[in-house]
Amino acid sequence: MKILILGAGNMGLTYAQCLLRSRIVTPENMMVLCRNFEKANQLSQTYDGRFFSNPSLCVPEADLLILAVKPQDSTRLFEQIRELTSPDQLFISIMAGVKMQAVASALGSEKIIRAMPNLPAQIGAGVTAFTSTDAVTRIELVMVQNLLNTTGKTIYVEQEQMLDAATAISGSGPAYVYYFMNAMIEAAVNMGFSASEAELLVSQTFTGAVDLYNKADLSCENWIKKVASKGGTTEAALRVFEDTALHEDIIAGANAALKRATELGQG
Ligand SMILES: NC(=O)c1ccc[n+]([C@@H]2O[C@H](COP(=O)([O-])OP(=O)(O)OC[C@H]3O[C@@H](n4cnc5c(N)ncnc54)[C@H](OP(=O)(O)O)[C@@H]3O)[C@@H](O)[C@H]2O)c1
Repeated sequence: MKILILGAGNMGLTYAQCLLRSRIVTPENMMVLCRNFEKANQLSQTYDGRFFSNPSLCVPEADLLILAVKPQDSTRLFEQIRELTSPDQLFISIMAGVKMQAVASALGSEKIIRAMPNLPAQIGAGVTAFTSTDAVTRIELVMVQNLLNTTGKTIYVEQEQMLDAATAISGSGPAYVYYFMNAMIEAAVNMGFSASEAELLVSQTFTGAVDLYNKADLSCENWIKKVASKGGTTEAALRVFEDTALHEDIIAGANAALKRATELGQG
């Protein structure tokens, strides 16, 4: 199977590396379309795979095409490749907010998968929600799931609108985590730790807490109870979080992200 990634940015190169590392595709069958010749030339010195700047030299050859440009660049890309595609080709779009129907009508193609990955895909620790049009067969779907699994875990959703919800939770989610971490690092520095000590304390606290959560069948609320003893330090902090409605703010933030994802999808 020949795979073509359209857009050699953060995500495009992440997919290229994950697919090559997992040997789902050989370097000869891994193609990447860049915006210009200089970039294609430069990347081919560093990465495995074949790099192109001319769509007509790679699009017709591909069995599976991964659309990894920014949503605002999609119209231009569609214009460039529309005449070069064929109905048997399979498309995976990871572009936030771009509906499958928009991809299908822009490319005159029926076999569309829409996926929402997240940044930890870079280290194979991502999570991807995905869905597909009816024209995608079960066998193709299994193959696509194997391919997406090279970047972490996956969940299939029946309704396309749930991809906007996934964008608000797991797509944007790493930034929420970094936001919380950043505030804790600032608090630690204010208490007298050096920046590197503060970063170690905070990052290891996040890693350890999440690893523990993943190892046992306990809810977050139950884990909180295990840390917070009555009248203790944790309870003092949690009371401030409750008083300032932090819990509600986080939910409101995620809902704002969902609203924005829906707006972007409406063009
Ligand atoms: N980053 C995330 O965490 C994340 C998470 C989920 C989904 N996504 C989705 O993934 C997609 C890519 O995001 P990203 O962060 O990888 O963006 P990015 O780093 O900006 O990469 C996009 C790449 O596409 C290239 N490009 C644009 N138009 C092109 C064209 N016509 N032909 C060939 N290449 C073209 C750009 O080239 P130039 O460098 O020359 O502009 C750039 O290298 C977006 O649609 C985004 O919504 C991203």
